[in-house]
Amino acid sequence: MASVPQTAPGLGRIFRRKPIAQIQADLAHGELKKTLGALNLILLGIGCIIGTGIFVLTGLAAAQFSGPAITISFVITGTLCAFVALCYAELASALPVSGSAYSYSYASMGEIAAWVMGILLILEYGLSASTVAVGWSGYCVSVLQDLGIHIPAALTAAPGVEVKDAAGHVVAVGVVNLPAILIIAAVTLLLVRGVSESATVNNIIVAIKLTVVIAFILIGTRYVHASNWTPLIPAEIPAPPPGTPMDMPHQILRALGQVFSGDSHSKYGVGGVITGAARIFFAYLGFEAVSTAGAEARNPARDMPIGIIGALIICTALYIATSAVLVGIVPYFQLDNPAPIALAVDRMGMPWFAFLVKIGALAGLTSVMLVLLYGQTRIFYTMSRDGLLPRAMSVVHKRFQTPWINTFVVGLIACSAAGFRSLDDLADLSNVGSLAAFSLVCITVIYLRVTNPELHRPFRTPLYPLVPIMGAGMCLFLLKSIINKPKTGPFFLAYVGVGFLLYFVYGLWNSKLQKGEAVDVHEASPMELPHVE
Ligand code: ALA
Repeated sequence: MASVPQTAPGLGRIFRRKPIAQIQADLAHGELKKTLGALNLILLGIGCIIGTGIFVLTGLAAAQFSGPAITISFVITGTLCAFVALCYAELASALPVSGSAYSYSYASMGEIAAWVMGILLILEYGLSASTVAVGWSGYCVSVLQDLGIHIPAALTAAPGVEVKDAAGHVVAVGVVNLPAILIIAAVTLLLVRGVSESATVNNIIVAIKLTVVIAFILIGTRYVHASNWTPLIPAEIPAPPPGTPMDMPHQILRALGQVFSGDSHSKYGVGGVITGAARIFFAYLGFEAVSTAGAEARNPARDMPIGIIGALIICTALYIATSAVLVGIVPYFQLDNPAPIALAVDRMGMPWFAFLVKIGALAGLTSVMLVLLYGQTRIFYTMSRDGLLPRAMSVVHKRFQTPWINTFVVGLIACSAAGFRSLDDLADLSNVGSLAAFSLVCITVIYLRVTNPELHRPFRTPLYPLVPIMGAGMCLFLLKSIINKPKTGPFFLAYVGVGFLLYFVYGLWNSKLQKGEAVDVHEASPMELPHVE
């Protein structure tokens, strides 16, 4: 590593870096069980990726923004995520640690960057889990209704959110989203029970979810009306002013200009396809969750890149196929529905399959929450061991070998958000946090290549520096289009501001690096742990 001012006085302290050798030593002596192989990691990724995005948000994005070109929106966002995934893969193979992007920042750009990353990741993982819980609640209510069980509507949505019936009439105004709270509580308990048990549950759930998605694609193909695919990009609404050049290069430039200036609410046209791409970004969140499991991987240098990139490729292919079948069965303008896949299956005239799809969606969404909350607890665990969060957050349960206090805290925060915030608000905030974190990851790759060219990198991002530059640029571009929303921007800025304050009040003074203490890998847990595989 280039000369590091480890004893820098004054403000320089906040840029102190955790030595890479220490990160690797932490890994070698870590307390968490090393049980995850390449297949487990791919399944962990798929478990986290396929969820609310495809089961809930796709229909809305097609109906409101992209039209049949929702498939192109998926290609655009998939490409962006591929750039970021390659960057994650490089860092995850070189620094296979628990804590993900937080640890990468700590080793490269210093403590303050790590702290910022930590607070962004809370939005990406913790808040995303809450977002998914709200989607889960919708499907749960629908399945219960199919079974003749009715929950009072006011108990199925956040305060102030209107609950509508199938015909679109408002039937109640929400008070609390009880199913969302209950599912987060259940997942929290499972995580306290243990990661290898959770991985087994995750594998079963992922199998169910994949079966449902693939069955939808295969069976659905027979019900596609190719006429629903044309025009691929419906005309812009409202139409552009007369005299606006309408050839494709002009349309693309105009659309990019609109998104960048914050007018990102285009309906159809090329602008709609780009807005749709930003809206379905949530569908891809989670491909990097694999990187939080570095300390529990058997052979992280080889398997982390396989896990991250493998999961992303499989999910991108499934998303493109699913969305093509969806808009092929149901005309895009009828897809403004919170359960679009179930709607398409209804059109096939197979009620049993519709019920199965809902069950598959419930299972799928559960696995997403499992992986997201798991990721969040591992990030807090690592921050606590670094002294940036209270020590209780890294206490490991004697019997289950999991950071149980931390898991309960994360569960509590996620429950509160899921029970009391709307799907839109939560999804926007998760997207903003994730896009900011992703762009930092891409920048970290460049930074580390410059400052530490000697670092052993079992996987190297191809086409360097183009890939990280494109990744960071595209993330910031999409971020700009979301942060302009009135509720999202101010909350995000206030959140980051309070985060900074907490660092200067707590983190700076308790950081083990600042106090000159090495992170003692056994300190977090007072007891000797049993054999680690
Ligand atoms: N990608 C995950 C989902 O769509 C977060 O639910």
